[in-house]
Amino acid sequence: MTRIGILTSGGDCPGLNAVIRACVLRGSRDHGQEFVGILDGWRGLVEADFIDLDWMSVRGLGKLGGTILGTSRTSPFGERGEAGGVAHIKANLRSAGVDALIVIGGEGTLAAAQILSSHGVQIVGVPKTIDNDLSATDYSFGFHTAVEIATEAIDRLKTTGESHHRCMIAEVMGRHSGWIALHAGIATSAHAILIPEQKASLDQICDWVQQPFQRGRTPLVVVAEGFVSTEMTQPHSERGLDAFNRPRLGGIGDQLAPIIEERTGIETRSTTLGHIQRGGAPSGADRVLATRLGRAAVDAVKDADWGTMVASRGTDIVRVGLEESVGRLKTVPPERYDEASFLFG
Ligand code: F6P
Repeated sequence: MTRIGILTSGGDCPGLNAVIRACVLRGSRDHGQEFVGILDGWRGLVEADFIDLDWMSVRGLGKLGGTILGTSRTSPFGERGEAGGVAHIKANLRSAGVDALIVIGGEGTLAAAQILSSHGVQIVGVPKTIDNDLSATDYSFGFHTAVEIATEAIDRLKTTGESHHRCMIAEVMGRHSGWIALHAGIATSAHAILIPEQKASLDQICDWVQQPFQRGRTPLVVVAEGFVSTEMTQPHSERGLDAFNRPRLGGIGDQLAPIIEERTGIETRSTTLGHIQRGGAPSGADRVLATRLGRAAVDAVKDADWGTMVASRGTDIVRVGLEESVGRLKTVPPERYDEASFLFG
């Protein structure tokens, strides 16, 4: 009988629990597999912090936000160094009788998974990110939910903006890619969508704000946290560094608001949606995607198809090499941004 360790790592994401549930149900019912939960991502693997995961422990999980396993932004290699980390992890897996790992995570997590896989750890990956920036999968679960949450929140911002004749700025997540901003911005008919992939000058942004105001509309700006205007050299950051020494982003909307107000004379307010976008129940679409990916992951384990990641391509779930899933982010192509530009101003 194959014993599979499951871990969730990196930022959490609606749908993680639905993946875990699908793995355990499909694996235990149809393949006779057993499961071990690894707590708080790579930390639990390095420290051998494991729990049993059986059918009963995943009951009703499909609609639950967050991850019952916990997560962290820890590297599996840490201070032990890469090779030492691998030997230590292999020893932990052996002692717990774990034959294979299902690793649910984003780019950083999957890159670590690929290194472990190249050292002989039997791994299948599942892509996860609300940012939807993994190039090997068309969509990752969590993204749809984040867009729905942002759309609902921005609709609300619009009604209060209309009452007060204000310009409203909604800041959404998106470190390197503006997919959430693009989709939520189109869905709410934003007059400006500002994303990390596309620079825009402050003059241009103010023009996009002024035009609808002159038509008697409430200007709406949707900005991704990683946006860099032509006057800036790097994304706005005022919250220090994260565990990987990357600047914690957030606050660009608050930076833009007074500038827009001063230059246009239009009262401007900014709201940062932040972690609201990652919390709570997954949308129906994300529950379905997460369930299909979880099912496909244990099928890949059954086939001993190590070093692969399950991915969504068109309407299919396919397997791709882990190496395909790392190293290149799926950013918003210029033509996709251009598609939205007829809404601007
Ligand atoms: O990677 C997903 C993401 O939500 C990014 O959009 C954002 O920059 C980051 O996580 C925030 O991470 P944390 O919750 O660790 O602050």
